Amino acid sequence: MPSAPEPPPGQTIPVRLLTSETAATTTSTFYDQVGGRATFEKLVAEFYRGVADDPVLRPMYPEEDLGPAAERLALFLEQYWGGPGTYSERRGHPRLRMRHLPFRVNPNARDRWLAHMRSAVDSLELSPLHEATLWDYLERAAHAMVNTFDE
Ligand code: HEM
Repeated sequence: MPSAPEPPPGQTIPVRLLTSETAATTTSTFYDQVGGRATFEKLVAEFYRGVADDPVLRPMYPEEDLGPAAERLALFLEQYWGGPGTYSERRGHPRLRMRHLPFRVNPNARDRWLAHMRSAVDSLELSPLHEATLWDYLERAAHAMVNTFDE
């Protein structure tokens, strides 16, 4: 194939460059789009506010202070949605179903968990698409975590 002719001296060939702005919009993660760390911190803080007053869920959490559990959940969710991989650096592979086996996650516990999470998600005031995407995942994950039907 003949090569393209050289442009006359002094003339340039227009090229479209991928600017950092367009690169950011085409490659940004869900984590970035919803506001990064601050958004996930708020999500878990709101969620654990609900858990702290829940007579079924609160006794399931082994530690006196819910702070470390909130941090683990935030790190996990951040990693899941494309943020930093700190969760796995600290905790290894998530294997969440296995990690929940010591706890009695029945449909009642699941529905309470989801109710607190629903309020927490609402508090973020995300765009409808981001909210639906996040909620769909949380709902499916919570259903998958059920490990007993005993009351
Ligand atoms: C369905 C109801 C659920 C209940 C009752 C429940 C309860 C618990 C409890 C009691 C713990 C131990 C607290 C701790 O020391 O971290 C825990 C840990 C955790 N849960 Fe759940 N959970 C539920 C669903 C979920 C879902 C849907 C997710 C993820 C989307 C999740 C993510 C986590 C994570 C990341 C940890 C920390 C695991 C670790 O690194 O040790 N949980 N959960």
